[in-house]
Amino acid sequence: KDFVVTIDGPSGAGKGTLSQLLARELGATLLDSGALYRLVALSSLDKSIAVDSVDELAVCARDLDVQFSSSASGVRILLEGRDVTTAIRDERVSMQASAIAALEPVRAALLQRQRDFAGHGPLVADGRDMGTTVFPRADFKFYLTASAEARAQRRYAQLVAAGETVDMARLVADIEARDERDQSRASSPLRPAPDARIIDSTELNIEEVLQQMLLHVSV
Ligand code: CDP
Repeated sequence: KDFVVTIDGPSGAGKGTLSQLLARELGATLLDSGALYRLVALSSLDKSIAVDSVDELAVCARDLDVQFSSSASGVRILLEGRDVTTAIRDERVSMQASAIAALEPVRAALLQRQRDFAGHGPLVADGRDMGTTVFPRADFKFYLTASAEARAQRRYAQLVAAGETVDMARLVADIEARDERDQSRASSPLRPAPDARIIDSTELNIEEVLQQMLLHVSV
């Protein structure tokens, strides 16, 4: 059967890594819904569409020409044929993604595109509203969270490993600001689905979270 697993939660809780590992373990397709918001963000920046041009942004989301292709080095993301796998992770794109993700017409324009990932074998869907809005009838739902400090700590380690200089206090403040925006937007605010299993990873490593998830996905 084509089961669907949803993994929602705040920024930096480890959803990206966990959903990749879980998808591999289950032989499932992966939907990185955050990448779709980032793609709309990048595309709109390229086209110089302002964040208050809601209709234009919705058209941009609807017409998004994107391909996800698996390669030896992982999934590559192509926007109009151009490899934007790293470009969509830029801070500028992150800020724009967070802003446009608050717009209902943009979310509506991406809804069907996300649902189309289901029905071609098992699916692991990673995002903010996978279990609440996009796949409310998913077979297994997780809500992965961790304290803001723990999430900032992980991001800090990543950035330092990438050779960047970072200010820990600013990272915590950024994460809290993003949480606030995710939770307070009118359209699909971040919250656990009523039937989601909540996993707090503050004191758990990746492997421990993966094992907890596998324990509850009985297929
Ligand atoms: O690194 P981070 O977790 O912040 O980013 P992401 O998961 O790639 O998501 C990028 C942006 O899209 C964030 O601002 C999210 O709030 C938003 N997003 C959303 O609104 N709904 C989703 N299903 C996924 C992401």
